[in-house]
Amino acid sequence: MTRPAHGTRSASGPTRHVAPGDLIERALTRRAPLADAGTTAYRLLHRDADGTPGLTLDRFGACLVANLYDGLAPEPALLEAARAKIGAEAVYVKRRPAQASRLTAEARAALAPATPAVGQAVDETVVAENGIAYEIRPGTGLSVGLFLDMRDVRAAVRALAPGRRVLNCFAYTCAFGVAAALGGATEVVNVDVSQSVLAWGRRNYALNGLATRAEDFIFGDVFDWLSRFGRKHRAFDLVIVDPPPFATTKTSRFSITRDLGRLTALAATCLGPGGQLLMCANAAELPQAAFERAVLSDLTGARPRIERRWHEPNLDFPRPRELPPYLKVALITP
Ligand SMILES: C[S@@+](CC[C@H](N)C(=O)[O-])C[C@H]1O[C@@H](n2cnc3c(N)ncnc32)[C@H](O)[C@@H]1O
Repeated sequence: MTRPAHGTRSASGPTRHVAPGDLIERALTRRAPLADAGTTAYRLLHRDADGTPGLTLDRFGACLVANLYDGLAPEPALLEAARAKIGAEAVYVKRRPAQASRLTAEARAALAPATPAVGQAVDETVVAENGIAYEIRPGTGLSVGLFLDMRDVRAAVRALAPGRRVLNCFAYTCAFGVAAALGGATEVVNVDVSQSVLAWGRRNYALNGLATRAEDFIFGDVFDWLSRFGRKHRAFDLVIVDPPPFATTKTSRFSITRDLGRLTALAATCLGPGGQLLMCANAAELPQAAFERAVLSDLTGARPRIERRWHEPNLDFPRPRELPPYLKVALITP
């Protein structure tokens, strides 16, 4: 199915057509403050809020990654206009299924070809975000190493980190771990069920001049490790919990709409006095009020409360009409 990807539709009004080059120019102007601050990774087009229904386009330095939703076909003129404006080396295309985390690895690979739709292949590139370097692998599946909508939360983790022991659950490429370590955490432990993303995380540490100790990169199931830490009274001052919407491992099954309260309470067993939880949900199907109820529901402290909330950063994730708010993040005192 091909749609006019550069028409700006309003709920009631007609479609307004904008030339692809003008549309990219307008989007770049909006993001200029990010580039001025030395950030080279940001969302350039965000669905209908930027005039491209069903399409997002992420800039990772000299690479672009397009995500197509709802069966949308790539629009060569738009991708080429973006490549030319940025001077990008390559544009990769990922076709997004409704629920990526429920697909097999093979199905995911078919949706996200390892070779670019436009330009020469780029195996890896290093981007900057608020002065932190991250390795991006644009041809690696649906996720390329950094979730751009968490930029403000990573900055907050860096600010919260000084003097704290941090546990980073569902660590992926350890982007939160790097931010915490650079911020001055006394200890940062990253846990993930994938060896390859933990190795990627160690490379991210090295890119930022951080030493890596094997015991700070734990390969295993978060549910098992939270239970183990709780049993052994191993305490942290900040526990970051950023799970996928669904996850099945050899030893656990998780659904964000069903199990968030249980996971929050389990994470709270690993906190020392004065410790806090950073709970995250990337789930449009979970409204804000339900998220807040869930993360507080199973906590047993005297006055569990949410201290701070974050959503998608509005400079590069302007609110689309076609998608309800999906990112929910809360800093919790249990
Ligand atoms: C949404 S990503 C996490 C993003 C990450 N927090 C970040 O800031 O980039 C989900 C990660 O959770 C990991 N994962 C899923 N289920 C898990 C489990 N039960 N235990 C440990 N890791 C798990 C996956 O391997 C994947 O790396």
